[in-house]
Amino acid sequence: MEIDAAWINIVYIVAAGCFIVGLKMLSSPNTARRGNLISACGMLIAIIVTLLQKDIIHYQWIALGLVLGTFIGAFAARLVAMTAMPQMVALFNGFGGIASLLVGWSQYEIASAILPWPTALAIFLAVIIGGVTFAGSLIAFGKLAGVVPVKPMLYLGQQVVNSLVLLILLAAGVFYIGHLAPGSTYITFLVMVGGSLLLGILAVIPIGGADMPVVIALLNSYSGLAACAAGFIILNNVLIVAGALVGASGIILTKIMCKAMNRSLANVLFGGFGAVKTKAKHKIQGEAKPISVEDAYILLEAARSVVIAPGYGMAVAQAQHVVNELGELLTANGAEVKYAIHPVAGRMPGHMNVLLAEANVAYEQLAEPDDVNPMMDSVDVAIVIGANDVVNPAARDDQSSPIYGMPTIEVDRAHTVIILKRSLAAGFAGIDNPLFFKPNTRMLFGDAKVSVSGLVAEFKSV
Ligand code: TAP
Repeated sequence: MEIDAAWINIVYIVAAGCFIVGLKMLSSPNTARRGNLISACGMLIAIIVTLLQKDIIHYQWIALGLVLGTFIGAFAARLVAMTAMPQMVALFNGFGGIASLLVGWSQYEIASAILPWPTALAIFLAVIIGGVTFAGSLIAFGKLAGVVPVKPMLYLGQQVVNSLVLLILLAAGVFYIGHLAPGSTYITFLVMVGGSLLLGILAVIPIGGADMPVVIALLNSYSGLAACAAGFIILNNVLIVAGALVGASGIILTKIMCKAMNRSLANVLFGGFGAVKTKAKHKIQGEAKPISVEDAYILLEAARSVVIAPGYGMAVAQAQHVVNELGELLTANGAEVKYAIHPVAGRMPGHMNVLLAEANVAYEQLAEPDDVNPMMDSVDVAIVIGANDVVNPAARDDQSSPIYGMPTIEVDRAHTVIILKRSLAAGFAGIDNPLFFKPNTRMLFGDAKVSVSGLVAEFKSV
């Protein structure tokens, strides 16, 4: 069945509208699920009209891809642990990149006449950005999965080598666009494909595992740009729009994450953070004071305002459900409870929000550091659950600290801080935390789920 082009574009506008509304709704936990569904519906209708548009499409291949893709996707989504989600997103980005590269390659192969230069330019961009995204995402996946060394791999002249590869790619692109007769540029085209894959690897290996989530957000943006270029190759309006939206939202997310870590994007990409263990100049004074579950309960029972600051350890311990239970018990006991969520707590954007939403914590109780820090002096007890770097006061007080300037949740200003973790070990940034040794801090050692369950049991026993 052939549909009129005007109708197709109208449906594409509806689909693009769904993407935009869906994206907007993703910015609040209240509406995020519906936003996701609306965007998915937009994509479904876009795919359906695209398939109805042309008679030449072999539906059996599409059906096979659809069934296989749905099966693998649904299986992976159910099986992958929440803590391994960044790796999965890295893989998805990579697949987006290679798809755009292949669209560009196939158009190069089937071109039987001289291509107009804008199409050749779009092919060049889809191949280059798609290749960098694919190879870079695989390295990012490998680093997060522990298959590739997590430490930044640095060597002398690294940036010169990277710039050289980029220059060769650009030169190949100029040559390719200038010599468009079919078949006359095959070697150049292969240089473009190989060079883009090499550049993807070279660009990501010097970046440490700690910065991988930022890199993944950036690669997500690249995958959008590659899709946008692919849209220009096959002249598909909805692919151009969807690619541009992914490109823009990925770069916004990258910027938010860099800001939350007080780092520039250039520092993330070229700084080799974590390659050299930087020690703060100030020696940490004092002694960590352990506390038992029973004593922690006595402090919490008397508290009228409580701030809960969760971090990566809560995800590891899968403690979110008992944490919600504790929050409800504290509220029933007359305390005002707020959950302070740091933008880079955990290992992926929105990590804490996802976990707490899964445990049915009321959205109104979630607060950002900027909302909760001004009232911290009047908080009776701050409970830190498996968080470390995001509550490190050295970011505020110690100019020699590698994380100096990073905005944090200032739990040390509460009357009492109870920290739930298994040891005095450092967090992701690998640096000591003077918070553990402050006079108003008590360490509740142990697995976060076990400790919170203990506190819940104490509340229930009275
Ligand atoms: P971290 O600083 O990584 O600290 C997590 C703490 O959890 C560890 O010190 C660990 O101490 C504790 N822990 C682990 N398993 C536990 C368990 N079962 N029970 C109790 N505690 C447990 O986490 P954070 O404060 O959430 O900070 C996140 C870090 O990741 C930041 O450095 C941030 O810059 C970085 N990062 C995050 C992102 C995103 S998007 N989230 C992106 C880039 C970088 P013990 O071993 O002593 O228990």
